[in-house]
Amino acid sequence: MFKLFHIASLLALAAMSALGAVSAQADTPQIRPHLVEREGRQALMVDGAPFLVLGAQVHNSSNYPAALKKVWPAVQDMHANTVAVPVAWEQVEPVEGRFDFSFVDTLVAQAREHRVRLVVLWFGTWKNTSPQYTPAWVKFDNQRFPRMLDKDGKPIYCLSPWGEETLRADKRAFTALMAHLRKIDQDRYTVIMVQVENEVGTWGSVRDFGAKAQAAFEQDVPLAVLRAKKSPVPLAASGNWRAVYGDYADEYFHAFSMARYIEEIAKAGRAVYDLPMYVNNALRDSLAPMAPWSGNFASGGPTYDVIDIYKAAAPHIDIVAPDIYSPDSRQVLATMNNFQRPDNALWVPEIGNAAPYARYLYAILGRGALGVTPFGMDDANYSNFPLGSQHTDARVLAPFAPIYAAFGPMQRQWARWAFEGRTQGLAEAQDHADQSLALKGWKANISFGQWQFGEKDWPQNAKAPPPHASELLGAVAIAQIGANEFVIVGQYARVRIEPTELQGKLGALIDSAEEGQFDATGRWVMTRRWNGDQADYGLNFSARPVVLKVKMGRY
Ligand code: DGJ
Repeated sequence: MFKLFHIASLLALAAMSALGAVSAQADTPQIRPHLVEREGRQALMVDGAPFLVLGAQVHNSSNYPAALKKVWPAVQDMHANTVAVPVAWEQVEPVEGRFDFSFVDTLVAQAREHRVRLVVLWFGTWKNTSPQYTPAWVKFDNQRFPRMLDKDGKPIYCLSPWGEETLRADKRAFTALMAHLRKIDQDRYTVIMVQVENEVGTWGSVRDFGAKAQAAFEQDVPLAVLRAKKSPVPLAASGNWRAVYGDYADEYFHAFSMARYIEEIAKAGRAVYDLPMYVNNALRDSLAPMAPWSGNFASGGPTYDVIDIYKAAAPHIDIVAPDIYSPDSRQVLATMNNFQRPDNALWVPEIGNAAPYARYLYAILGRGALGVTPFGMDDANYSNFPLGSQHTDARVLAPFAPIYAAFGPMQRQWARWAFEGRTQGLAEAQDHADQSLALKGWKANISFGQWQFGEKDWPQNAKAPPPHASELLGAVAIAQIGANEFVIVGQYARVRIEPTELQGKLGALIDSAEEGQFDATGRWVMTRRWNGDQADYGLNFSARPVVLKVKMGRY
């Protein structure tokens, strides 16, 4: 078997070299971007080391060469290291069987010029559940590419995940895209991840009631799903979907249908060029008590309650990822808890670009996420308020850019610390309450809405709180890089570190609190020490995010 493969690959390589298609550095599997997992934590390996995605996702219609002119300046101003850009089925295969990857070529070339990596978003059969990004020859041919039927047998807008021709055609287009990426990028790995479809699921119908779907629904639940997904209400241990999952059967079956379809596409694509792949999710309410679907979210999408089904049915998808568009801190926290699992890396492919979302970047990066890509970060003159900012100019970038500027120089260290489980982070909650982070031997107490000098309960301070006290801007991320040493990034927050173990000593003090940055070689470069007023009332992070290296000591 090995020999056969070996000879076949040699012949293929020889043929490709003869055509000049193989560059000096061919695809190197150990350097190719991939995910690794250790002790329940994950890292996205890029160029052989953990990578932190400080990303920007462009607006939906920025996927044309001329539109990219409005992308790069924003990306540079934001200090992003990665850009997420759609590649639409309608644009790469406008005529069936004839592929045009000229936009992909331009995108990859320009990303390299601007020294950023890419996440490619495959807008295929489903984009926000709709077929709007499929080519016209798919969109308007209900015979070949069937719509789902609702429970009354009426066709609805959404393409059926049981449409064999649809799957075959999408798979072929996606595989062609992956083959093209391999051809143009296998020696550089500009593209580091691929999203398969976009926010799949269905609004208004819990599942497909077409003949094929119905027949599958009446079959026994596949073993892999049965093993992975327990029913919220204990019912039959095996049997058909209704018998095992009762009132949850329709939603779970539709999630399985979607996952199975996506799996076919991802598997075929990765067989050609094996990049990390993920799906993104329009969230269901993370706090509401669990209940069967009632029209309240896109059924069948990879919501947190069906991650297990996606894991079982789509093993070629590495990550099920949340798109965060609810600014409420309780929702954001619950969402991160739901999606960050030992078998599912936290990766936030979309988050609103309005100012209150910026503080969550600290929580996301602090919790050891692979990264984050706020949505709508280009100069396309478009606002997706109320999901994001009302602004369409530089004011959109303003809350995000300084955070990336702070993390940027130490991005590789941060990714490594996160993978080692050394990092934590949090954001100011709706109630502005104090919070804390448990460190090894120490505890960080964090408060918000403070002046930089004095205490909240000093009469003068209590009478005149700072303007930011009524806003939601505060956040902190901490990496414990030694027994008594911490790297802290923050904004609008006061941090006090206290010992949880005195180790036979009387108390603890700051040994040094240095403001500075890591340079390109990973060496710490101090700009100044914080002491006196700048340390007497805790370490007070203000509007501009800064990086502190803090050493604590016991006396
Ligand atoms: C989530 C989708 O995934 C994005 O493509 C976009 O449509 C936003 N919603 C809304 O701006």
